[in-house]
Amino acid sequence: MLVQATEMLNKAVAGKYAVGQFNINNLEWTKSILQTAQENNSPVILGVSEGAGKYMTGFKTVSAMVSAMTEEMGITVPVALHLDHGTYDGSYKCIDAGFSSIMFDGSHYPIEENIEKTKELVKVCHSKGISIEAEVGAIGGEEDGVIGGGEVADPDECKMIADLGVDFLAAGIGNIHGKYPENWQGLNFDVLAQIKSKIGDLPLVLHGGTGIPADMIKKAISLGVAKINVNTECQLYFQEATRKYIEEGKDLIGKGFDPRKLLAPGCEAIKTIVKEKMELFGSIGKA
Ligand code: 13P
Repeated sequence: MLVQATEMLNKAVAGKYAVGQFNINNLEWTKSILQTAQENNSPVILGVSEGAGKYMTGFKTVSAMVSAMTEEMGITVPVALHLDHGTYDGSYKCIDAGFSSIMFDGSHYPIEENIEKTKELVKVCHSKGISIEAEVGAIGGEEDGVIGGGEVADPDECKMIADLGVDFLAAGIGNIHGKYPENWQGLNFDVLAQIKSKIGDLPLVLHGGTGIPADMIKKAISLGVAKINVNTECQLYFQEATRKYIEEGKDLIGKGFDPRKLLAPGCEAIKTIVKEKMELFGSIGKA
């Protein structure tokens, strides 16, 4: 059964660890992440971008697949199915499709419009028992064609959005989606501490989890980050393992062309990196 993410994240704030959001693209991704969460007794959030939702033929397909998979696999750890960087329309589609959590990303709107739309969606989500994440200050890098400039959120605006009753808040603190450039300045912990002082125990979300050094991750968690999103790193691990399988000619041996064999090393690689992240975030054994 899918659960909303509020309870798991409130527990994470109290316990000073973070729960990973790992983005899914297909059945293999979903299965690998769920297996890792169960094996490590960790809560987990499955993130679905609008692009990935479209790729999987729609949010209803995703919701049906994830619900059925948790049941068939006998998953007992808390699993939330979460829309990642949702548009206004996409948020409603996921609410209807049975997602247990959504992120409405109104960070590209003027703050008044972000507030208005977030407020409306908070009401709708809470009437249906769905958790909601909002965003202030775009996250840099590119995701599904949305480009941000490594922005840093205004702590007063964070407070305004937090006061709307959102369950957790994503705030840009110099983080970027995708690989970090050589000259990246690192996370802005001064701003993170200011945001934390204004919003209290509301769980903070750190996007762009790929490639952030372990010491920065730990410091961010100590300052109230309770959800960390990882996407690109799973893709890179999958790619590397799949490339190796083919370069070693294993697809040419026996039934090595069988997709269940061809995709197996990539799936194992996803499990490896997801477990590594769960260890770093401190969520192992916290289900
Ligand atoms: P990365 O792709 O950089 O890991 O970021 C993922 C993310 O923040 C999804 O919202």
